[in-house]
Amino acid sequence: MNDINLENIFNNCIEYTNKIKNNNLRDCCKKILLDQKDKLMNKPATTGTHHYFKGGLLYHTYCVARNAIAIIELYPNLNIDSDLVIFGALLHDIGKSKNYTDWSDRSEYRCNGSKLLGHSYEGTHLVENYLSEYELDEAFKNQVLHMIGSHMNEFSDYGTLVLPKMLEVIIISFADNIDATLEPAHNVITEAKKGSNYKIGNAPRDYYKSLNPEYHK
Ligand SMILES: [Fe+2]
Ligand SMILES: [Fe+2]
Repeated sequence: MNDINLENIFNNCIEYTNKIKNNNLRDCCKKILLDQKDKLMNKPATTGTHHYFKGGLLYHTYCVARNAIAIIELYPNLNIDSDLVIFGALLHDIGKSKNYTDWSDRSEYRCNGSKLLGHSYEGTHLVENYLSEYELDEAFKNQVLHMIGSHMNEFSDYGTLVLPKMLEVIIISFADNIDATLEPAHNVITEAKKGSNYKIGNAPRDYYKSLNPEYHK
């Protein structure tokens, strides 16, 4: 993924924050991204299952926000709070800024917290600290935190704190899943030789390239 300009990708994320109408949420989201910029731009998104490259965490964050915004636009009748979706999508994996070491130090990817607390908790905790600086209704603040803590749609070591209970976090979860599945599958299929099968860690099954003659022209 050498052709990704991380500075441009970061600026795109900041542009997305400008779509957030709630002044407090917009300001908070921008502040967190700016404070965590170096980490986002240096860390992989995972320890190998997807976006496993320098700045993979930032690129994945951008893609999830882009996907989530597209889903909102595809479902105009659902009366979705786009502020919650955009805020949550941009910060859903921010807990990983604490979990993984920088790409340059490949000797150890995990550090304090990731195994015992998980990135859903780490992210919720980080965002909650930032939100404490803002005047927000307590119940609404919990809804905002639900976007981070429940973005994974399953209980597991790296999973959710509480299963998704709002439309907005369901959208974030699917937007996340699309990106986390397509990226490694694309990498595998791009390298695949015709007729060969490959398995990948995140979704361990066989992948195939299209046999459509039109596709190979
Ligand atoms: Fe995640
Ligand atoms: Fe993610």
